[in-house]
Order: sequence, then structure tokens, then C-alpha cells
Amino acid sequence: MLLHSSFQLFISVGFLLFWAVFSQIPLGSKLSVVENNHWTSSNGNFAIGFFHRSDQYSVGIRFYSNSVPIGKQMVVWVAGAELTVGNKSYLQLTENGELVLFDSIRGVVAWTSETTNSSVASAFLLDSGNLVLLNTDREIVWQSFDTPTDTLLPGQNFSAAKMLRAASRNSVSSYYSLHVEDRLLLRWENNIVYWTSGSPSQSILRAILSSDGTLQLLDQRSKVVWSVFGEDHNDSDVKLRFLRLDVDGNLRLYSWHDVSRLWRPVWQAVENQCNVFATCGLCGICIFNASGSSVCRCPFSSTMESNLECLVPYGQDCMSGSFMTTYEHTFLYGVYPPTETITRASLHQCKRLCQEDPRCTAVTFTNDGTAQCRIMRTRYTTGQSDPSLSSISFVKRCSDPIAALPISPASSFVSSSSSSSSSSPRDTSLKRLNRLCFPCLIGVASVTFVVFILIQIGIGFCIYKRWNYIRRKAALAYTGPNSKGLITLTFSEIKDVTGNFKHQIGPKMFKGMLPNNQPVAVKDLKGATMEGRKFRSAVVKIGSIYHKNLVQLEGYCCESDHRFLVYEFAKYGSLGRCIENPKLCKRLTWRKRIEICLTVARSISYLHTGCREFVSHGNLKCENVVLDENFKAKVSEFGLGRVHDDRGGAAEEDVKDFGKLVVKLLSAQQEADDVCEWAYENWVKGQAEKVVDVRIEDGVNSEELERVLRIAFWCLQVEGQMRPSMGEVIKVLEGTLTVDPPPPPFICQHPQD
Ligand SMILES: *[C@@H]1O[C@H](CO)[C@@H](O)[C@H](O)[C@H]1NC(C)=O
Ligand SMILES: *[C@@H]1O[C@H](CO)[C@@H](O)[C@H](O)[C@H]1NC(C)=O
Ligand SMILES: *[C@@H]1O[C@H](CO)[C@@H](O)[C@H](O)[C@H]1NC(C)=O
Ligand SMILES: *[C@@H]1O[C@H](CO)[C@@H](O)[C@H](O)[C@H]1NC(C)=O
Ligand SMILES: *[C@@H]1O[C@H](CO)[C@@H](O)[C@H](O)[C@H]1NC(C)=O
Repeated sequence: MLLHSSFQLFISVGFLLFWAVFSQIPLGSKLSVVENNHWTSSNGNFAIGFFHRSDQYSVGIRFYSNSVPIGKQMVVWVAGAELTVGNKSYLQLTENGELVLFDSIRGVVAWTSETTNSSVASAFLLDSGNLVLLNTDREIVWQSFDTPTDTLLPGQNFSAAKMLRAASRNSVSSYYSLHVEDRLLLRWENNIVYWTSGSPSQSILRAILSSDGTLQLLDQRSKVVWSVFGEDHNDSDVKLRFLRLDVDGNLRLYSWHDVSRLWRPVWQAVENQCNVFATCGLCGICIFNASGSSVCRCPFSSTMESNLECLVPYGQDCMSGSFMTTYEHTFLYGVYPPTETITRASLHQCKRLCQEDPRCTAVTFTNDGTAQCRIMRTRYTTGQSDPSLSSISFVKRCSDPIAALPISPASSFVSSSSSSSSSSPRDTSLKRLNRLCFPCLIGVASVTFVVFILIQIGIGFCIYKRWNYIRRKAALAYTGPNSKGLITLTFSEIKDVTGNFKHQIGPKMFKGMLPNNQPVAVKDLKGATMEGRKFRSAVVKIGSIYHKNLVQLEGYCCESDHRFLVYEFAKYGSLGRCIENPKLCKRLTWRKRIEICLTVARSISYLHTGCREFVSHGNLKCENVVLDENFKAKVSEFGLGRVHDDRGGAAEEDVKDFGKLVVKLLSAQQEADDVCEWAYENWVKGQAEKVVDVRIEDGVNSEELERVLRIAFWCLQVEGQMRPSMGEVIKVLEGTLTVDPPPPPFICQHPQD
């Protein structure tokens, strides 16, 4: 009897040990594409390993349960989101306790968990599908649940700093995302909200999917504030569930149905798929077909467009008049840009307003009691059509069939200023969209995703850093840091710190020393007549931005008329100054200059898309890029520009300024106003190397030069909408996205002049 029970004990201990060994991932373990091996959770429901994706590979967590056949093993988390790597890549849990994804194609570490310094002692793939790294005290230092991609699993916290992002499908840089703010929000790009979970509530902290299939919003005390559930909510036979933001922009709850062996959608956020903003993208308008599925159709097809794109046929090159075609029960709206003029007008007035406006491309009249007239001035238009809709749309077409034909590339250099001119930039932009759009779609998406994921990983680190930082500040003798970790100084303290403005190091910029001997750069914002309250709120916003390539704001002074900003000090001063200085300029090699371009692009992209609120730089130029003691570039004086009504416009301005900065940095021609025109002319004549600073000694990579100039000229396009996003710029600078030759960016002379 005794023998029997100790034998049993032995068996069960052995069994437990076996499972512990089975699910623990020892330091030093490796997964590789070649071996096609996995780490599995102890219940066998999840596995992490490489999987094939768009001709390459990604590493991620997927359903691995016996009941789910191979083709249905949904991926629920991917290292680096849309990151793909080559066929000899591997993921290793290093002896230092860091997860490292090595890409065999580029020969670099493509992604890491950044946990070398966190004393990671063990790793597990938990039964919930959460991959966790634990330290010696068995505390979680990193978990895959903190960096969701497009999916939430039961038990996964989804809070304000996180977002789900759908795989990009329709165009170069548009994307759908899910956020928790004062409620759940679905957004298109940065600004269009197309679904919310009811009315806002200040107390909301996080969202969570419970194991019984309820999606809940919880407040600080974990009280349920809002919830929805799927149709099989109480069905105890359902074991596997997930919530995903799908590529079509809808948020759906799925559960595994054992009988039909299918993932069944049991709830979706936007009931009518056609109400998802831009669900058809540039591929037409949304309708329901006879079997009730939403499909995209192109009612305004013309010979010019491929069937992948469906644009309004009217362009600004239309010489010989236009006419309007009528679309009953059809509602249209612009996608690029997603804004239009809305006025009150009768049906006939509405149609006439468009006919008489040479820039109008289409108009929608909605008579739901308000007689609303939406005037669109873009060919990038989408919408929906359904017999139940009370809207009627008119789409403009050109009477002149010749105008619809593509024009030869030679004539693209001819341009004039009247509105009847130049279809060429548009055509080129279309070609560019076409080329960028499809083969490189995944590529672009992955970079944006990688950046986004890295930022997310960074957040945890930043919080830690910031806490340290606040502690450090608290040791100061001065007024002391406010709640945001910024020091507030009086004007006399500013005078103290700068030794009565003794060392001027730039325009309105002085070197100073804090009482703890930390050198700082003090910027006098004289002339910037910003109201105190506005100034403080701008400062607090800027002060809360942490990025290794952004100059840190340390403090400020806001006393009567005095406005000063106190920044961390950069040893070599501004890039503008370094270009001028013969000794420092030697260090600005070709490699270095390209690196600076990329650094600046990444910082601006971070400001645009990585911060919780959109921030524009507003004044990007060589003077506002500084070089630190390691000769690394950092961007300064951001977030002080005009407050723009539309962030699209503000972002486009930054992109233009970036283009200028690149040309000035490569050419070292800082003073000339027409340096960009001059550079473009040289490039057109095939003499790109003439643009480059002659003092560069390490030789110029001509392939790289071509690429960098092309993207700079795209940034400099007069028409803001044609400028790329910073995410695309980064990709081009890294050499992973090809870029077409740009059309003339400026109102240029004819080449034969
Ligand atoms: C791996 O990828 C390279 C190109 O990236 C290709 O040439 C090679 O055939 C691939 N090998 C296998 C086994 O698929
Ligand atoms: C880890 O710590 C070392 C020494 O403190 C430091 O040099 C290194 O940058 C840190 N690494 C990370 C990823 O924080
Ligand atoms: C989710 O958040 C709650 C409250 O902060 C916490 O108790 C719980 O452990 C978190 N769950 C995970 C998986 O991180
Ligand atoms: C689910 O089942 C429980 C008990 O089985 C019941 O109390 C509850 O009302 C049910 N909820 C719904 C939404 O059907
Ligand atoms: C409606 O569209 C769906 C999805 O594209 C398709 O599977 C179905 O066959 C279509 N039905 C009809 C009647 O065209």
C-alpha cells in the first residue's frame, strides 16, 4: 500500500516535471526556418514557430490544438508584426535572456525583445498563448501580450498605450487600428473614427476578452463598464476564441466550432461592412451582392485604370468641357484626402456647384432632411451604393476623350500654372501608387509595423527611464521638477544658468549649466508671442516625448514675457554649423550623411505616428538637427510649430522640410534658396553627382545617391498629397522600397529653356 502510493507520487512528480520541462523554454534555445521546430504551450493549444508568409517567413504564435487542422491554425501574434525574414533565419532565446530574430537575407538582427538587462531566467509559452520572459524573482519582464499585432486572446489586457492594427491592404500607407481611449475606437489612418463602443467614459482603463467570449471595458477597479458578446457566448463547448481586427477594417470575434471545423465569426463591430471607412479603398464602391456579401465594384470604370484601381475619371487636364453622370442611391466620399466641402443646397444647386467648380470631381447630395451637398475635389473617391440609401451622386467626366489618354513622359516636364494644366504629376503619381501599391505593399507595411512594434517595446523602457529621470531631477536645487518631470525656471534662474547669456551657440540659443553641472542649451523664444497657458501645455506635451533621436526637453521658463526652453546639450551643436566648420565637415562622410538622413526620418516618423498624440515638427531644418558627443544626430525644437487644424497638412509640411534638409545636407549648399531646383535640374540632366558636396572624401555610392535624391524630390512635390509618408521615406532610405523617378517638384522652367 505504502509502496503503491509512493510509486504513484513518483509517477505524478515525474509527470509534473515532464510538463514543466516540456513547456519551459531553456535559455539558449533556438527555432529556425530550416528545422521548422516549435515551442508549445503545456496544454498544446498554442505553438510558436516560423511560418511561411508572402515568399518569406515570420515567427509567431498560432493555434496548435489537436482539433484545429493545419490550414486553420490562426496566427495570433507575430514578432515584429508584419516583419518577414529569409529562409535561413532563426529566433533564439539567448543566454542573456533576450529573444533575438536574426534575418538571413539582410544579415542583421531584425527584431529583439530588448531584455538583455532584465535578468531573464526562464521563458514559457503559457496556456493562454502568452509568451513570457521571467526574471530570477519569477516576475514577468516581457510578454507577447504587451505587443499585440491584430489579435487579442482571452485574458489579454488591452490598454491605452496599445493598439491593434489590421494588415494593410488597400494602399501604401493607410491602415485600420483599434484603440482604447475613453471607449473602444476603430480608426482609419490617424484621424477618421468610424466606430466607437457607445458613449465615452473617463474611467475606462482597459479592454479584455473573457474566456466565455465577452469583450469588456473595465475601469480602474476592474468593474465592467461596457461589454458585448458573441452569439455562442454561453456555449461551454467552445474552447478557442480570439478577437481580430481584420484586413477589411472590421473587428470580429471568432470561435472554433468543432463540428463544422471552422472559425466562426460570432460578433462584428460594424454591422454593415459597407460602413467601414474606405473598406473598398481605391477599388471602387461597396455594395451587397445577391447573396448578401459586401463586394467592391467600380461604377466609373474607364479605359485608363486597371481593374485594381477605380478612380473618378475626371482629371484637371480636361480641356473641352465636362458632363455629369448620375448614380442613384449612391453615397460617395473622398479618401485622399478624406475631407470634402459640405454645404446646404438643393439637388440641382448641388449638381451645378460641381459643374461650375473646375476642381470638383464628384458630388453627393443627401436628402435626409438636411439637404447636404458634399463636394469632392479628388479622384480618389469611394463610397457605397444600396437601394435603401437616399443619397444621389454625380460624377464628372471629361467630354474630351483624348484627355483621358496617358501622356508621354517627355511632356511631363512641361507645366504651367493654370488649372487646365499638367496631368503629368498625377499620372506619375498613379503609376507610383500602382507600383508601390501592390508588389511592395507587404514591404511597406512591415516597416511601419516594425517601427510601431519597436515603439511599443520602447514604451516600457521609457516609463522606467522616465521614472529614473524624474528621480534625478528631484535632486536639483532649483524650483524643482513639476509633475511632468520638467524643471520650471524663473527668468533670473535662466540668467544664472546661462551666465547672463554669455555663450551664444546658435540663433537665440545659449549654452548653460544646471546647478548639478549638467550642460544644457537654452533657447530664447523671443518673438514667439505664445500665451502662457498654451505655451505650458505645448511644453508639457514636448517634455513627455522620449526618443533616443529627439533632443530631450529638460525644463522651461514662462515668466511674464519671457519664454525659454531648456534642452539637453549636444556637444557638436547644429548640423548647419557642422557643415560650415571645415574640421567637423570632414567627419560628415557620405555614410554619415546618409545615416543622419535616416535618423532624422525615423525621428519625424516617430513624432507623426509613434506618440500618443500626433506631433508635427513644424520647423525642420539643418539648424534644428544637432550632433551629440558620439556624433549621432538628434532632432531638436519639435512640436513648436503652428498649431495646424489638419494633421495631414502639418505632416506634409514636415515631409517637404525633410526633402529640403536632405538636399542641403548632401550638397552643403545651405544658403541658396533655389538649391532644390538646382539639384533637380542637375539630376534631370543625369548629373546627380554634381549635387554632392565636393568635400566628401569617402566616395559617393551612386545607386544610393539616386535613391536619396528621388525620394527627396518626391518629398518636395508642390502638391502635398503627392508627398510620401515618413514611413515610406524610411523604407526607401533603407533601400527596401524602390522609388520611381519623381516629376518636377517645383514650378520649373521647360528643360529646353
Ligand atoms: C532561400 O532563399 C534564397 C533567396 O533568398 C533562394 O535562392 C533559395 O533557393 C531559398 N532556399 C530554399 C531552400 O528555399
Ligand atoms: C544594458 O546595460 C549596459 C551596461 O549598463 C548598457 O551599456 C547597455 O546599453 C544596456 N542595454 C540595453 C539594451 O539597455
Ligand atoms: C491584466 O491587468 C490586470 C489589472 O491590472 C492584472 O491583474 C492582470 O494580471 C493583467 N493580466 C495580464 C495577462 O497581464
Ligand atoms: C449564461 O449562463 C448562465 C448560467 O448558465 C446564466 O446565468 C446567464 O444568464 C447566461 N447568460 C447569457 C447572456 O445567456
Ligand atoms: C457574393 O460575393 C461573395 C464574396 O465575394 C461570393 O462568394 C458570392 O458568390 C457572391 N454571390 C453572388 C450571387 O454573386
